[in-house]
Amino acid sequence: MSDNKSVNVRLRRVGLAFGDHAVLRNIDLDIEPGEFFAFLGPSGSGKSTLLRLIAGFGPMPTGQVFIGEENVAQLPPWRRNVGMVFQNYALWPHMTVFRNVAFGLEERRLPASEVRERTDAALEVVGLRELADRRPSQLSGGQQQRVALARTIVIEPRVLLLDEPLSNLDANLRIHMRREIRELQRRLGITTIFVTHDQDEANTIADRMAVLNDGILQQVGSPMSLYDNPANRFVANFLGTANLLDGKVERDEAQATFRAGCGLQIPLQHDAKAASHATAMFRPHHVSIADPGQESRPDIVSFEGRVRHREFLGNLFRYAIDCGGQDILVDDGHQVGRRSYEIDDAVSVTLDPVQVRILSN
Ligand SMILES: Nc1ncnc2c1ncn2[C@@H]1O[C@H](COP(=O)(O)OP(=O)(O)OP(=O)(O)O)[C@@H](O)[C@H]1O
Ligand SMILES: [Mg+2]
Repeated sequence: MSDNKSVNVRLRRVGLAFGDHAVLRNIDLDIEPGEFFAFLGPSGSGKSTLLRLIAGFGPMPTGQVFIGEENVAQLPPWRRNVGMVFQNYALWPHMTVFRNVAFGLEERRLPASEVRERTDAALEVVGLRELADRRPSQLSGGQQQRVALARTIVIEPRVLLLDEPLSNLDANLRIHMRREIRELQRRLGITTIFVTHDQDEANTIADRMAVLNDGILQQVGSPMSLYDNPANRFVANFLGTANLLDGKVERDEAQATFRAGCGLQIPLQHDAKAASHATAMFRPHHVSIADPGQESRPDIVSFEGRVRHREFLGNLFRYAIDCGGQDILVDDGHQVGRRSYEIDDAVSVTLDPVQVRILSN
């Protein structure tokens, strides 16, 4: 419905404080035209504040905010032509679906015929034309959600900003709606930023994402690149479960080796620098568990340990294996009839060093 050319969004050294409490610090970020981008981070990390700042709500930030070629940092929201769906979208209860969506256009005093045409088109996009005469109380949560979306896209924004738009929906509807939003975004080609604290939601919906913690941008990249190569302990832990072993990296001419405090030695495949303090990161499903006394293989790291703890998660058992006082988490896929281990069982644990990443902090 829109022939808007997609625009990019660039943040340069953006900072923001409430009083003397710095909420966002020195943020540099490039979001590509037409990209579906996610802000991911724990509660209070600054996601909504960053999104609102792009829309122009809240206190003035320091630094620059570019939408396309224009620095909008000092412009009011209505001069930016962005559409925002707030964390708690509120529809007008006394207005029909049609009026809720048309409202933004009527406010702009557009001719009635254009208002009708564009509102119909927006309702068509979200699949709600048949329900145009209902009131919000006569809609399901997912349908209300779509009204909130239609109300935003009807003004043909250059950038679509969505703040946890699915947080009020049940698990099944969330999955359904996130697919719909993704498809809609592809069709319209609008540069979109989606805020969530749910890793699965960000993974499934975003081309790329930025992980925030405590107002600081931790890392930017595709969901897979961040999961596989987290920049630090925070990102490693936030994107799924991670084993984080403390130790050091030693190297001679031929080979770098990670030596964990618990005595485990991992030959590193990549060109790691020597370091007196380093962290080895690998995921629980990278580790395998078996009966003790397995034949060792030169290309695989192995050690013998004891089960300290286990959890049954339905599709897998998650074991904690004691390695000289540190726990190593191991995920073992569960199937009917498959052997499982009890607490205090001796086991053999193996890890392919290809999966290991070295974090410097
Ligand atoms: N108007 C305000 N005045 C003072 N502090 C504020 C204000 N708005 C937000 N904050 C603080 O800024 C920080 C970031 O808040 P923000 O709403 O951006 O977090 P968030 O990442 O969106 O969290 P959530 O996932 O809970 O929505 C928090 O510490 C919050 O308490
Ligand atoms: Mg928020």
